[in-house]
Amino acid sequence: MGYRVVVAGATGNVGREMLNILAEREFPVDEIAALASRKSLGTEVSFGDKTLTTKDLDTFDFTGWDIALFAVGSEATKVYAPKAAAAGCVVIDNSSLYRYDPQVPLIVPEVNAGSIEGYKAKNIIANPNCSTAQMVVALKPLHDRARIKRVVVSTYQSVSGAGKAGIDELWNQTKGIYVPGQEVAPEKFTKQIAFNVIPHIDSFMEDGSTKEEWKMVAETKKILDPKVKVTATCVRVPVFVGHSESINIEFEDFLDEEEARDILREAPGVLVVDKREAGGYITPVECVGDYATYISRIRQDSTLDNGLNLWCVSDNLRKGAALNAVQIAEVLGNRCLKKG
Ligand SMILES: NC(=O)c1ccc[n+]([C@@H]2O[C@H](COP(=O)([O-])OP(=O)(O)OC[C@H]3O[C@@H](n4cnc5c(N)ncnc54)[C@H](OP(=O)(O)O)[C@@H]3O)[C@@H](O)[C@H]2O)c1
Repeated sequence: MGYRVVVAGATGNVGREMLNILAEREFPVDEIAALASRKSLGTEVSFGDKTLTTKDLDTFDFTGWDIALFAVGSEATKVYAPKAAAAGCVVIDNSSLYRYDPQVPLIVPEVNAGSIEGYKAKNIIANPNCSTAQMVVALKPLHDRARIKRVVVSTYQSVSGAGKAGIDELWNQTKGIYVPGQEVAPEKFTKQIAFNVIPHIDSFMEDGSTKEEWKMVAETKKILDPKVKVTATCVRVPVFVGHSESINIEFEDFLDEEEARDILREAPGVLVVDKREAGGYITPVECVGDYATYISRIRQDSTLDNGLNLWCVSDNLRKGAALNAVQIAEVLGNRCLKKG
């Protein structure tokens, strides 16, 4: 016997990947419902070799459904996640709405699967920000060995992190640059994204940082360890899918780069590609469609007593969103709901 599973936001970037990954990983599904807004009513989406017809989230009755994977943004989540949870359906949410709620566990299964039991307080589990998810997968095994004191991270985030509209804007603006009269003004992004980089993701905070940067700080503390200090600079780059991060880590104890490489080679969810030669590292286009978080350029930081630098790349629609959500559903099934 399997689960009755809902995917809310099934026509979006993350929702479509959720359906792909549920099918790829053969999640035990008895019945599946694909939901989106009313304007998408009847739109067809793929689930393995089946085609599903999208239903309206607004009128959907969650009674009798086991798990709902939400990827609809915070505003719609605020309206519909409590309805689903109250009907007895466990919500795994990709928006930022519940991530900082002390009664909602924020889970990356490779790091803190043990916290999942906390879902019972609200029947909701939160999925982290895409940049946080891939970073903590890399940090966890290193933290276990040498205790991380401080992390300095700069991100290079793809436009798919800004939804379908982000992808369309990069595509149309890039074409428009070469076709006179078809120039596309910035709309989703604050400045031209084609052939440019923008050091601004989400809104500005009082201290001059952005909400995206604040999320990486707060979420790393909640998932990994509240004692770890993080400072982040988040940058949008003209890449369709795949987020990259330059990560500088300061440890309590000395950690040799060779040992760090060996630890990461053994770590769940991580693949090390680190040859010190041209092309001996991973770039975002190579990670698309994969489950792994790739680590390259592992090297000592000689300006610190106990410092290490590394390069971290992952598919933001997969480990950064849909894959992590499905992994949470797997943990929930194995440890808590016990069906299938
Ligand atoms: N993209 C990433 O890398 C990433 C990573 C982590 C978390 N997330 C989060 O995941 C969520 C979805 O992101 P996305 O990139 O998939 O966005 P997207 O491509 O813009 O898709 C949004 C989806 O939500 C649906 N939706 C929006 N408002 C709705 C409403 N009021 N009622 C019902 N359905 C509604 C849309 O349906 P229609 O097609 O009918 O409009 C669509 O299916 C966001 O909270 C985002 O922050 C994204």
